[in-house]
Amino acid sequence: MIFRQLFDNVSGTYSYLIASRRGAEALIIDPVLEKVDRYIQLLNELDLRLVKAVDTHLHADHVTGLGALRDRTRCVTVMGENTKADVVSMRLADGDRLGIEGISLDVIYTPGHTDDSYSFTMEDRVFTGDTLLIRGTGRTDFQNGNARAQYDSIFNRLLRLPDDTLVYPAHDYKGDTVSTIGEERRCNPRLQVKSVDEYVELMNNLKLPNPKMMDVAVPANMRIGLAQDAVAQKGWALLASEALGLIGLPDVALVDLREQSERDRHGTIPGSLHEPYTKLSDNIGPAGLMRALGSNRRVVFYCAYGERSAMAVQAAQEAGITSACHIQGGIAAWKEAGGPIEH
Ligand SMILES: [Fe+2]
Repeated sequence: MIFRQLFDNVSGTYSYLIASRRGAEALIIDPVLEKVDRYIQLLNELDLRLVKAVDTHLHADHVTGLGALRDRTRCVTVMGENTKADVVSMRLADGDRLGIEGISLDVIYTPGHTDDSYSFTMEDRVFTGDTLLIRGTGRTDFQNGNARAQYDSIFNRLLRLPDDTLVYPAHDYKGDTVSTIGEERRCNPRLQVKSVDEYVELMNNLKLPNPKMMDVAVPANMRIGLAQDAVAQKGWALLASEALGLIGLPDVALVDLREQSERDRHGTIPGSLHEPYTKLSDNIGPAGLMRALGSNRRVVFYCAYGERSAMAVQAAQEAGITSACHIQGGIAAWKEAGGPIEH
């Protein structure tokens, strides 16, 4: 496995680059905007293909690198389903799996620091975001933070992981890089409480100043969606209401770019093909399925919120598949327009 812990010394943020091997797909957790050039360089040096960029929660102390990484690598942006970000390509829920080639992470909903905080476990380690820090815990006094929920997330979810599970947080300001669940249970001063009430009392009296970047970072991190207008201006987008009329037409191929877990959870548009976004470059290649389909049919991509499909249209058009278009806003917009769904 390739595993890199990367540090942004301005915000004290740790980002994690993970892949199963050289030449494989990679994902990054909690990337920082100012470090995007460095990530891209490292990806090239290690011969990795970034396919997913994940934020553990909506950050208040730095601007996320999710949007910039998507624009430069066409990767999928991922956050939890409770995020306030306007558009991410994929939203995950507690119990879901976050997968790339050779790597699988389990998603745990761990609210408290914010109401959109998620942790991710992988084999011997857990990425705790700002829920559990090394000898600390994330503040709970803004962004719908809740000390009671955080107690539950820490004591009833994270501390139930095996004691030797490695803890990789989203921040550290002291120079610590990694801890374990057992070590934090014993040595983390915030966790030496006898009850949830005692924890709430402790957290509600920290009297911390707001992060310096908060007024910039929070609004920026809420507006990270891809500008789908640019695709629409080229005539490559259909409103969901327009797409309703395409169902069953023989010269139209509706193509679902989502992953199987998303299809299972949210349903599909009747009669659509399933060709996940990760297979896109093969599918639009010289011997690819989309090229064959596109020769006598209109290829209409869709995904969850229209991000992956907008990127797919751009790639397909660049590859010369001129009939490619997408459903703006994805299956979410389709449902809002009253489109039928198959389970
Ligand atoms: Fe945070």
